[in-house]
Amino acid sequence: MDTQTPRAALVKVLTLRSQSMANDNERPIPGASVGEQFQDNARMSMRNVNIFYGEKQAIFDVSLDIGQNQVMAMIGPSGCGKSTFLRSLNRMNDTIEGCRVEGQIAMDGQNLYDEKLDVVELRARVGMVFQKPNPFPKSIYDNVAYGPKIHGLAESRVDLDEMVESSLRKASLWNEVKDRLHQPGTGLSGGQQQRLCIARAIAVNPEVILMDEPCSALDPIATAKIEELIEELSENFTIAIVTHSMQQAARVSHRTAYFHLGRLIEVNPTEQVFTMPEHELTEGYITGRFG
Ligand SMILES: Nc1ncnc2c1ncn2[C@@H]1O[C@H](COP(=O)(O)OP(=O)(O)O)[C@@H](O)[C@H]1O
Ligand SMILES: [Mg+2]
Repeated sequence: MDTQTPRAALVKVLTLRSQSMANDNERPIPGASVGEQFQDNARMSMRNVNIFYGEKQAIFDVSLDIGQNQVMAMIGPSGCGKSTFLRSLNRMNDTIEGCRVEGQIAMDGQNLYDEKLDVVELRARVGMVFQKPNPFPKSIYDNVAYGPKIHGLAESRVDLDEMVESSLRKASLWNEVKDRLHQPGTGLSGGQQQRLCIARAIAVNPEVILMDEPCSALDPIATAKIEELIEELSENFTIAIVTHSMQQAARVSHRTAYFHLGRLIEVNPTEQVFTMPEHELTEGYITGRFG
């Protein structure tokens, strides 16, 4: 086993690269991302994003687009800033004391950090699913109906019933819960609870769904169901998923972004990242040299 720390590995690789760059000006400068960061069909566009916790910088100068109906996987060693970056996409970092986001984050050209923007509405447009399923202590029905109710999306009870059913169907949960809609959501299995949380996010017609390691608390069968679901959801939604499983990134995503020590090292089509990574650090990670 390689006992090198990621930081030592990074320094070594960057040193070797800067030495070899003297006679190879095609190579990217250390610290800059490589690959296809930008997309013609961008739904979300991030430019020069820096994120700080107090004095400590967690994200360094990340620029990246997420295209319409794409599944973007974000991978990298623990602590490299995946969750921090993901949370900036719907301003969940606003809820963390001392966290500061700099740079531009836009959806369909609209600056998401505009002071006049309604953050509650933003979090409906950019929904989030967390690592640990977190249904409300309410019935299955009410978990899904909650969003449409507070956002005033349903005109009648029939309307609301329809929204609940269609969201549960889209989350591949309807058949398992249709006979017990008024039982507590917390009584479902872990995998069902996570699909309930996905149904809850879908119910308010989001444009983007953020998922932070949504399967890490689930068994392999429940994980497979969620992965299948992600593929279906990408027909209607744009998805950004953080995962510590490279296999999962390879199975569900169209593009993969590799983060290391707060920097976006590489972003490319998923197949390329896992077969022909452009950057030595990506290669080191996918071949298990550090992680
Ligand atoms: N609430 C917080 N307060 C201070 N530092 C934090 C907080 N959350 C994360 N960090 C730090 O920011 C860095 C990135 O963390 P995180 O985004 O959680 O990484 P990942 O999701 O890739 O494991 C780490 O050094 C972590 O310790
Ligand atoms: Mg994380």
